[in-house]
Amino acid sequence: MDRVARRLGSEPFRRDFGVDYAYLSGSMYRGIASKELVVAMGRSGFMGFLGAAGLSHDRVRGDIAHIRRELAPDRPFGVNLLCNLQDPARESANVELLIGEGVRFVEASAFVKVTPALVRYHLSGLRRAPDGTVVRGSRILAKVSRPEVAREFMRPAPAEIVAGLLAEGRVTPEQAELARGIPVAQDLCIEADSGGHTDRGVPTVLLPSTQGLRRDLTREFGYAEAIRLGSAGGIGTPQAVAAAFTMGADFVMTGSINQCTVEAGITDAVKDRLQGIDVQDTDYCPAGDMFEIGALVQVLKKGVLFPARANKLFALYRTYDSWDAIPEGTRRQIQDTYFKRSVDEVWRETREHLERTGRVAEIGRAERSPKRKMALIFRWYYGYTSRLSFSDPERDPANVQVHTGPALGSFNQWAKGTPQESWRNRHVDRMAAGLMREAAEILTQRLNALA
Ligand SMILES: Cc1cc2nc3c(=O)[nH]c(=O)nc-3n(C[C@H](O)[C@H](O)[C@H](O)COP(=O)(O)O)c2cc1C
Repeated sequence: MDRVARRLGSEPFRRDFGVDYAYLSGSMYRGIASKELVVAMGRSGFMGFLGAAGLSHDRVRGDIAHIRRELAPDRPFGVNLLCNLQDPARESANVELLIGEGVRFVEASAFVKVTPALVRYHLSGLRRAPDGTVVRGSRILAKVSRPEVAREFMRPAPAEIVAGLLAEGRVTPEQAELARGIPVAQDLCIEADSGGHTDRGVPTVLLPSTQGLRRDLTREFGYAEAIRLGSAGGIGTPQAVAAAFTMGADFVMTGSINQCTVEAGITDAVKDRLQGIDVQDTDYCPAGDMFEIGALVQVLKKGVLFPARANKLFALYRTYDSWDAIPEGTRRQIQDTYFKRSVDEVWRETREHLERTGRVAEIGRAERSPKRKMALIFRWYYGYTSRLSFSDPERDPANVQVHTGPALGSFNQWAKGTPQESWRNRHVDRMAAGLMREAAEILTQRLNALA
């Protein structure tokens, strides 16, 4: 069955990424997708993306050096690049780091449009081969959950951005020329409802409609290379893997299931909780980094109060214009049970954090706008609850924030009664191999039954 498993998905995708299987593990912030996880995937013929979001540049450099030491030179790895519309300079600095480190594969996520920094990364690896074809030395795997964003990535880089980079001398005339005939990303991962940030998409709807878009744009721009579309979101069983490939996915990506493994960079206490969840044990709440607009994350619900409390804070934010306008009893309850400290203490910590991270202007803005100040106070709760899951979840178990999706619940059910029931026996690469082989078996059986 392994032979069939190795043939699932797109052959050119496997060749270009240097993998044996069309199966990737997605980034998970703050090193949950750890260097060990990326090494385990790369060694076994898969590929993992390092969860670089929220890590310092020194840490990312160190992790990349570790991965390079541990992986044979022909084994691939990738690193996450998050869009940062509020702070484009930071996004650019991240891109320069990736180019400087010679990172060949980047998982670009949270982008709503193609930015100059992203185009700089895309163009930095372009050159023409002696046979006239375009060689991509740096590949963007765009993770998208909406067709209009997929469209941006499937178009050639915007001419005005390319012209700007050329004028600044940051790309060569040849690179600028080559960019005109190829899409920004040759590979897009279409992310349906997932753990963490989610647009709650349905895979059977999203993937086929993006495949239609691919057909139209390939025709419109007369691309010589085929765009590859993968599937992520809700993949935790061989049946889900088989379904994705049956729909024509060129590759699959998993996320939630990899957090509950030996290699994941999160506390054992979180893994202990996760290994027992079922498919109904997750919930949605507003994301801390996009609190004011109410963008959603999917998180653990079983045994914690975090999602209910986060939703309550968002409802209060929408109802009241300031912290002081909230009824006294509610304010007391939030300080006693959510924050576990006074609101003055929360604001003091918030100010210190903004000063440390060079965002002093935000303090002034919040002092002038009580609603803005309330948003920052509520955002502190996200930082606090997230830190708990990385340090000591047992210190305040009800408030722990853990991003995860129902894919993990489905994996847990599949693994029940096997050694993998315990996360201590779960290794990302063995899980990937098991899922791919059993998916191959399912597909073979179905095809035989039809023949
Ligand atoms: C704990 C956790 C953290 C995540 N962090 C990131 C991240 O930092 N960057 C990113 O692009 N995706 C992130 N994701 C999304 C995954 O890379 C992947 O796309 C998603 O989990 C796939 O859906 P699934 O959870 O249903 O398997 C995260 C997912 C989880 C569960």
